[in-house]
Amino acid sequence: MNGRKKYGAAVISVALTLVLAGGYAYAATQHFADSTKDGAWDSWVQKWDSQVSRDYEKVALTPGADETQMNFAWYSKADGTATPKIELSTSSDMSGAAVFEGGASQAIDGYMSNKATATALKENTTYFYRYYKNGMPSQTASFKTHSFNSYTMLYVGDPQIGASKGQTTSRGDKLENASALNTAARNDSFSWNKTLNTAMGANPDISFVLSAGDQINKNVEGRDPGNEVEYAGFLSPDWMQKLPVATTIGNHDSTNESYSYHFNNPHDTQLGKTTAGGDYFYKYGPALYVVLNTNNYNCAEHELAIKQAVAAYPDTSWRIVMIHQDIYGSGLDHSDSDGIVLRSQLTPLMDKYDVDVVLQGHDHTYSRSYLLKSDSKTHSKYDFYDWDNVKDEAGNVFPYNNTAYQDENNCYTIANTMSGSVTNADGTLYMEANSSTGSKYYELIPTQQDYIAVRNQNWNPTYSVIHVNQNSFSIDTYEIAGGQLQKIDQTFTLKKTSTSRR
Ligand SMILES: [Fe+2]
Repeated sequence: MNGRKKYGAAVISVALTLVLAGGYAYAATQHFADSTKDGAWDSWVQKWDSQVSRDYEKVALTPGADETQMNFAWYSKADGTATPKIELSTSSDMSGAAVFEGGASQAIDGYMSNKATATALKENTTYFYRYYKNGMPSQTASFKTHSFNSYTMLYVGDPQIGASKGQTTSRGDKLENASALNTAARNDSFSWNKTLNTAMGANPDISFVLSAGDQINKNVEGRDPGNEVEYAGFLSPDWMQKLPVATTIGNHDSTNESYSYHFNNPHDTQLGKTTAGGDYFYKYGPALYVVLNTNNYNCAEHELAIKQAVAAYPDTSWRIVMIHQDIYGSGLDHSDSDGIVLRSQLTPLMDKYDVDVVLQGHDHTYSRSYLLKSDSKTHSKYDFYDWDNVKDEAGNVFPYNNTAYQDENNCYTIANTMSGSVTNADGTLYMEANSSTGSKYYELIPTQQDYIAVRNQNWNPTYSVIHVNQNSFSIDTYEIAGGQLQKIDQTFTLKKTSTSRR
């Protein structure tokens, strides 16, 4: 959640009223992942203070337009000549390297944003690469491709580096995000690194990561560089140089240009835009992925983006949409309020374009829905108004906890309640990811919605492992509980006996 400060005293008074009424109080909890309790904390503090927090030039890898491509983005200092190129080789000595030239543009003051795309990648191959900054090559790094037809992904929610600000650690320090050191980002980046190490240790064959938004916390506006130290933390784990990450624009990323400088998203549609960027898509083996920027409420544009994606890759076995705001989640803070602003408009689109799965974030809790469809009735459209209200097309203002607003959002039918696995499903699965770092957790909403199959909040960082092949999509979700991995939901599998499109 963000932006409430803009509404000042009025919001404080509304929030107090809601707390006193036992209603939908916004409830960031006292629970967070306190990294200072870890044995490796002190050495991390040294590394953060001396290197990580000052280094804005880490590379970010993003899945390319399809499985044969890899996109790169990185900063270089603006006081030299940008040389946006990548060298790629199958040998660690970089012999026989292919060179991929890209482009550069002005980023925040003092830096250029470099972007390039490597092509003609093959499956089951280790690639070594170097990226250039002002004529000088980086150290050699590497990534691995696995099977293109049957592969594994990591799905994470709200790393939101810096969101632990205001919490007090085991050492009695209050975490903050105002100083250049940003001790909140330092705490959350440690946890992010731990989550990636844990997930990759348990699943070394992961091909890429899906991050459902709010990579960082500080929602500064325009070209304000105030969140750069948080991006530095997000990109700091060694795994981030080896793993492509498809990111979604969250409400915390949305108002600032730095997202667009750090990530080289494929098939950028220029639709659904906010300051950070817009809707994009890519194909990987048997699946099409459409990533929508739902901070923009123009669903006609989101439909156009889905249409373009489906037209580009019409025959994939699976269609997967990733959005930040949870139109079907179960967290207290968003699932019955701003998260569902787009529910009545997006649900029919998932039917129309035969979307199998929607991956969501925003609510810092875990939930898995039953398979849902639109109820095919006409419903009011809503728009964001402020952090406590929405408005309909006629301009009528509805508080989030207003019955009319809630009723109009009962725009779905429950198509299937089977557990375990569903074959040839009619309906869409909606997943909500808890925070992958524990930088901030929310309570579950007191009354579980009827569309929810399973939900969970154990105040631990969680991640999901998704396996996809032509005939199957399966998802497992784990929490990292005091260094131990525990499954928090049964494996859920969608199967198709025929992969031809309806
Ligand atoms: Fe968030």
